[in-house]
Amino acid sequence: MRVLITGGAGFVGSHLAEAFLQRGDRVTVLDGVNEKIHHLLAHPRFCFVRGSVLDGVLVDRLVGEVDVVYHLAAVVGVEHYVSNPLKVLEVNVNGIQNVLKAALVHRCKVVFGSTSEVYGRNLQVPWREDDDRVLGSTRVDRWCYATAKAVGEHFCFAYKRLGLPVTILRFFNVYGPRLDNLHSGRVVSVFIGQALRNEPITVMGDGGQTRCFTYVDDCIHATVAAGVAAAADGEIFNVGTDVETKIINLARLILELTGSCSEIRYVSHRDVYGARYEDVPRRVPDVSKMQEILGVRAITSLREGLRRTIAWFRGEGIEQSGTVVSYAPGSQG
Ligand SMILES: NC(=O)c1ccc[n+]([C@@H]2O[C@H](COP(=O)([O-])OP(=O)(O)OC[C@H]3O[C@@H](n4cnc5c(N)ncnc54)[C@H](O)[C@@H]3O)[C@@H](O)[C@H]2O)c1
Repeated sequence: MRVLITGGAGFVGSHLAEAFLQRGDRVTVLDGVNEKIHHLLAHPRFCFVRGSVLDGVLVDRLVGEVDVVYHLAAVVGVEHYVSNPLKVLEVNVNGIQNVLKAALVHRCKVVFGSTSEVYGRNLQVPWREDDDRVLGSTRVDRWCYATAKAVGEHFCFAYKRLGLPVTILRFFNVYGPRLDNLHSGRVVSVFIGQALRNEPITVMGDGGQTRCFTYVDDCIHATVAAGVAAAADGEIFNVGTDVETKIINLARLILELTGSCSEIRYVSHRDVYGARYEDVPRRVPDVSKMQEILGVRAITSLREGLRRTIAWFRGEGIEQSGTVVSYAPGSQG
C-alpha cells in the first residue's frame, strides 16, 4: 500500500509510519517539523514532505499518489486550546476539508484521527460511539478542540454520502515513547519529567478524575487495521483501553517506577488555565466495537507501558526533550 500520514511526524504518526514500513508499505509524511522521524528519513520506502495540511494544492498532489490517507495533523494539547483557540480551529477544521476534497477527487480512503474529547463531559460512562456529546459553553476556550474535531467528523460523514470511504478513530489518552517533551504537553510526559527531575508532581484538582491510558503499540494496531479493513469503512471506533485510572494513581505509579523522591502537589485548574478550562471528570470508552470489527484489544498494562516510556525518556528522550534539533529547511527523506 501507499500511505500518506498528515501530521505523521508527531507522536502517533511517527509510530504509525514505522508500523506501515514494517509491513512493507510505502509511507509519505506531511508535517511542518520532523524531529520525531529523523530515524526514518533515510528509509527507501519513506518520504518526508515539509508543508502544511492547510496548503490545498500540496495536499491534493500528495493524496493523488496514495491508496489511503491518515489525517492526524492537528494542533493538540490543552495549553493550545486555552492560549490559541484560533490556531486550533483553523488547522483542525480546515485541514480535514483539504484532505477530504482531495480524497474524493482521487478516490482515496481517509482515516481521520479524532478524539475522546468529542464526548465532552458526558457522565454516562463507558461511552459508546453513538453516545451524546456534552460540551460546555463556547465562551470556555477549552472546548474549541473537541468542537473542531466533531466538525471534522461531520465533514467525514458528509463526504461518505458522496461515496468516499472514511473511518473515524477516537483516540483515548495514548502515551508511549516520543510523547511530547518532559516540560509540557500531556499528563504522562509532564509527570515523568517532574519525577525524573525530582520536582513536585503537580496533580490538578483532587486527582480523582480518571482517564484510560492507552499504550501506543495497542493504539497503532487498531489504527493500521482501520486503514486496511473494508469493514471499517463508514464507521467510528473508540481506540483505547477501558481500564480506568485516577490521575493521583498515575502520579503514584510514576513515582514508584522512577524511584523519584518528588512530592505530590495539588494545584487548581483555575490557577493553571484560568477560567478558560473545565475538566472532564471521567473518560472511559466502550471498546467492544474496536475488538469486534478491528480485531484488536489493548493488552499493555499501564505499569508495563509506563516502564517502557520511562526507559525511553531516560535514554534518548531525555536528550531530545527541551532540545531544538536543527535541520536544513526543505530537506526531504
Ligand atoms: N495522543 C493522544 O492521546 C490523542 C488523543 C486523541 C486524539 N489524538 C489525535 O491524534 C492525532 C495525532 O496526535 P499526536 O498525539 O500524535 O499529536 P502530535 O502533536 O504529536 O502530532 C500532531 C502533528 O501534527 C502536526 N501539524 C500541526 N499542524 C499542522 C499543519 N498545519 N500541517 C501539517 N502538520 C501539522 C504537528 O507538527 C505534529 O507533528 C491528532 O489529530 C490528535 O488530535 C491524539
